[in-house]
Amino acid sequence: MQKNSFKNTIRIVLGVSLVCSLFVSATAILLHSKQRQNQRQDRIRNILVVADLYEPGIDIEAIYQQKVEPQLIALDSGDVVNREKFDEVLNIDAFDIQTLSSDPRYSEAVPPQYDKAKLKQRPQYMVVYRIKADRHLQKLILPIYGKGLWSTLYGFIALDKDLRTITGITFYEHKETPGLGGEVDNLEWKNSWEGKQAFDGQGRVIIEVTRGEVGPDSSDADHQISGLSGATITSRGVNNLVRYWLGEHGYGPYLKTLEQERKQKNFANNNGPD
Ligand SMILES: Cc1cc2nc3c(=O)[nH]c(=O)nc-3n(C[C@H](O)[C@H](O)[C@H](O)COP(=O)(O)O)c2cc1C
Repeated sequence: MQKNSFKNTIRIVLGVSLVCSLFVSATAILLHSKQRQNQRQDRIRNILVVADLYEPGIDIEAIYQQKVEPQLIALDSGDVVNREKFDEVLNIDAFDIQTLSSDPRYSEAVPPQYDKAKLKQRPQYMVVYRIKADRHLQKLILPIYGKGLWSTLYGFIALDKDLRTITGITFYEHKETPGLGGEVDNLEWKNSWEGKQAFDGQGRVIIEVTRGEVGPDSSDADHQISGLSGATITSRGVNNLVRYWLGEHGYGPYLKTLEQERKQKNFANNNGPD
């Protein structure tokens, strides 16, 4: 057979392509578990950051195990999902919003009239994180996400044990413009959420990101956040996604269940045997 024949050239090209694709596939498989491990570490770090439990150099895995209790919840009912129902997708450790959203078994379309966060499709389940001390709830960390201008922003919001006061917010993934929408990462802006009221006395969502500055003397300053200047669309996106997730189509049913539990506990503590 001629070395330079057309057939020989094709054979070599196919052989090299096959070896390369096998190599790429093997690398992707090997890197997959490392990637998942890194994603988990990143998620844990962000949970600790928003819970105010993070300091550089700490053993994040140890602090997470000690202080954080994750729970898988059904959004519609607010019920905690039993471990017996877990599988390879519906599972606290492997939980991934995008994977669940694209799985018809575990996702649902968001009716357009309620779709403030512009999700279109969302998981029927979420993992929430309870921060505990001496077996008492100290903070509740809720995953939040929704559309900004260029991207979907993914983050966490932290509520205090009163389930009304916001203690922190953070976004761990977005593609908004640095210096404009990207200012959602600005520490000063994030800190401005601390102490704001998420709900009024009737449990209605009142937290709001406004267009422009909120004056410190404004009578609404307890539940309003100044919008980011030059980034009205991102600010509106954050407003909408936070209000969606705290509302009755988001964590509303779960928060109601927790509120009832809290009231029952208080009642039992105040009326128990002396
Ligand atoms: C290159 C470029 C990037 C921009 N990035 C953002 C952004 O990340 N978030 C945002 O809300 N607006 C962004 N804008 C501005 C929007 O197009 C829009 O003008 C702005 O949201 C209006 O906000 P303002 O009323 O506060 O000026 C960007 C504009 C340009 C030209």
